[in-house]
Parts: sequence; C-alpha cells; structure tokens
Amino acid sequence: MTSLLKQAEETLEEAQAGINRRWYPRYHLAARAGWMNDPNGLVWFDGWYHAFYQHHPYSTKWGPMHWGHARSKDLVHWEHLPVALAPEGPADKDGCFSGSAVVDGDTLALIYTGHKFHGSPESDDNLYQVQCLATSRNGVHFERQGMVIDTPPGLHHFRDPKVWREGEYWYMVVGSRVAETGQVRLYRSTDLHKWHDEGILAESEDGMGYMWECPDFFTLNGQRVLMFSPQGMVAQGYQNRNLFQSGYLLGEWQPGQAFSHDGQFIEMDNGHDFYAPQTFLSPDGRRIVIGWLDMWESPMPEQQDGWAGMLSLPRELSLGDNNRLMMKPIAEVTALRGSYIPVTAHCLSSQQMLVAADAEAMELSLEWERARSQAEQYGMMLGDGLRIYVDNQAQRLILERSYPDFSLVGTRSIPLPEDDILSLRIFIDRSSVEVFVNEGEACLSSRIYPQPGERAIMLFANSGSAALKEAGCWSLDR
Ligand code: FRU
Repeated sequence: MTSLLKQAEETLEEAQAGINRRWYPRYHLAARAGWMNDPNGLVWFDGWYHAFYQHHPYSTKWGPMHWGHARSKDLVHWEHLPVALAPEGPADKDGCFSGSAVVDGDTLALIYTGHKFHGSPESDDNLYQVQCLATSRNGVHFERQGMVIDTPPGLHHFRDPKVWREGEYWYMVVGSRVAETGQVRLYRSTDLHKWHDEGILAESEDGMGYMWECPDFFTLNGQRVLMFSPQGMVAQGYQNRNLFQSGYLLGEWQPGQAFSHDGQFIEMDNGHDFYAPQTFLSPDGRRIVIGWLDMWESPMPEQQDGWAGMLSLPRELSLGDNNRLMMKPIAEVTALRGSYIPVTAHCLSSQQMLVAADAEAMELSLEWERARSQAEQYGMMLGDGLRIYVDNQAQRLILERSYPDFSLVGTRSIPLPEDDILSLRIFIDRSSVEVFVNEGEACLSSRIYPQPGERAIMLFANSGSAALKEAGCWSLDR
C-alpha cells in the first residue's frame, strides 16, 4: 500500500469510530467517514459486486478526490474495502475523478479522470483533465498505469469516462465542455491503453446545459440510451428544479455510426437528490443503476456527524411501453424485509392514522384507489418533516420535506399517472426517502433529517375520504 493510501486508511479508521450514526444509513452505501459523492466503477468481478465512489477521507467536505471502495454479494449488504485510489500524480495529482470499471480477462480495470492544474487552481485555464487506467488482479489493490488519453487541444473540462465492450472493441464515452456547450465524446480501443478518437457522440442543443458530466451509453430493449448529468439547465415549471439534473436521451446507434436521437431530455428522478448515476450489468443480464443521493450545494446536516453523502438503492432499469425509462428497486432489496405489518383500515375520512411509531429503516407499500378518493390531500407523513401525498386539486403526487433548521424546505412533484390504482413503494432509511411510483414509472428521491422522536409514520386524508386497496409495511433489517 502506498503512503497516501495508508494515510487515508489510518484517518478513516480513527474517524469512523467517532461518527454520530443518527442519520447514517442502515441499508444504503455511505463512506465509513468523510465525504462521498458519485458512484464510480460499478462492476461484477470475481464473484462480487464492487462499488467505488468519489471520496474525501480527510473531511466531510469535497476535497482532493480518492476512490473509496466496497463490495457486496447482493448489492444491499456492503463490506468496506481499503481506499483504492489516491491522487498520487503526476496525471491525477489534484484528484482521481469519476470513472468506470471493466473486467478484462482476469483483470479488473478502472478507468478514471486524472484532475490536475498546471499553475494556480484559481483559473479553469490552468485545468487539465486526462483519462487514466489502473488495474488489479485481486480486486483490492490497484496498479496505476498512468494516463491513456490526454486532454484534447483547447479543452479543459473533459471527464468521467464510461467504458464498455461491444463487438471486438472497447468503447469509452467522456463528458466535456466547449464554451457553453456540453458534449459527450466517443473513443475506441482494442487494449484499454491506446484509444482512437471517434468524435462527438452528442452535444447540447436547446438549453441542455454547458457541461455534461458522467455520461453512460447502453442498450435497453433494442434502444440506445445516453444517460448523463448536465450542468446549466434552467428550471421550467416543475421540471429541472435541482441545481443539476440527471437524465437521458433515447435513440439509435451502431458502432461507426452517428447517434440519432429525438432531442428530448428526460429527467430520471424527480426528487431533490439524485445525481451522477452510473449503470452496470449484473451477471444475469439486468441493467442496474445507482446514483448519488445528494445534490451539489445542498445543505448536508450529517457533516456535523463526521460523514457526508450516500448512494441510492440499486435500481433495475427497463424501457416502458411509452419509451420511458422505468426504475424499480432490484429484487434483492426484498431480502431485507422483516415481517409484514398490514394496514387494516381501507378508508380514511378527514383523519390521520398511525402506521408505525418509529420508522428508521422501512418499506411502506400503499395502493390508493384514486376514483374512490375525493380528499383534497391524502398520503403519508413521517414525523412533521416529510409528506408524500396526492394533491387532488393540482392532480400531482407531491414529496414535501420541511427541515427548516437545516434550510431544507420545499416540494418536488410529478403529474398523477392515469391509472386508477396509484401504487407507491416508499423506502425510508435514517436520512433518505425513495418513492417508486407504479412499478417504476417514476421515482422521487430526497434526503431527509428527522430528529429523534420524529419518525412516526401516519397516513392521512384531508377534507374528504381516501380509499386504500392494500397497504402495509416491512421493517428492513440488515
Ligand atoms: C459529478 C462530478 C464529476 C467529477 C466528480 C468530482 O458529480 O462533478 O463530473 O468527476 O464529480 O468529484
């Protein structure tokens, strides 16, 4: 282990003993201590799922990026491994930025962005981002192979390589910025070392942002999905409300051809906190996505507890009949379920009803019958801080959080789907909520910060009645 990696380990060992766990996730992945952002290098290798992530072990704030590392047999029980990469330079002297992993024979290869300034870090003119390779036989210790793609002339922001195998070649997409235009660039290789520039795969039009971070490019049901995280999109009505977005363009692509798409950027998650998602394939062929369950520049109250940032639940992707991405929790998540506690009442009339007194790690399943529900508002609440409800006047499903002590107050919402049954699977962890609507047609994910004693789950119907076809919950145990 190099001295920087050793130093990171020693710091984490000490820091993790001191963290306050009141908001630390029970079944989501978070760093042992310190700061975490994007998921990186998601891959199945040698009998394990590996998740790497952007990590700053030395404080709860973003800083020179390392790659944290954990592994799992089932994507819900995680084991922490030693920090995999530290900014040891010269190509990555100021940070090991986001990237991906592939299995090349018996080798696990990490392809990531080396982040470095030539001169003062105050100016982007001094910024250079290059793509780097590191390899491992045991999946734990990595050998740095250095830079494999230099910054193209005239560029500065050039990062987040996602590599995959297709036919006889390796391909890579990289996000970049040219003036006010976000782009995805494509490369091709036979050996992961030498890369051929295949040009610009897609770029921003009609206000789609000045920088495209974390691109991913994959096939679902014969269609090609370009998923990315644009910076610089302006909020419009209920859409694009977060500082940065994550979403996708749908189209067609064959190696050697242009990517033809419909130009319609669609957000993947409509909550407050979901960014920089990355996908990978499970050994049984499922396309699974994990995102960072946070948003840049949003308050993170857990920083006072010695840690910051967490990842979303792994979600299986599919393409719906309407050509929309569907995201539902992977089947493995049901392994966490304890016994089912049904809600016996099937109708609420201008009333509140207690479902669980203390929900720390819980899955709540609600099937509302909309035609039989005339209440102005009906749904669930967690303490006084979170409500997920139908607003019958606005005809929207609303996620409302209210943690004024931390300046986290506001709503996100989606139009109500047309079906009569509104089915919600709501996953609560100590500081997060993820709502899956109608088997994955939509998803809302947000961080929440209940105080001790503020974790009672209630159902409610205001000004009228609301009907439930079925409702119940499971506590989720590790
Ligand atoms: C996305 C991102 C990436 C970058 C990384 C740095 O959240 O800004 O573009 O590689 O985070 O930590």
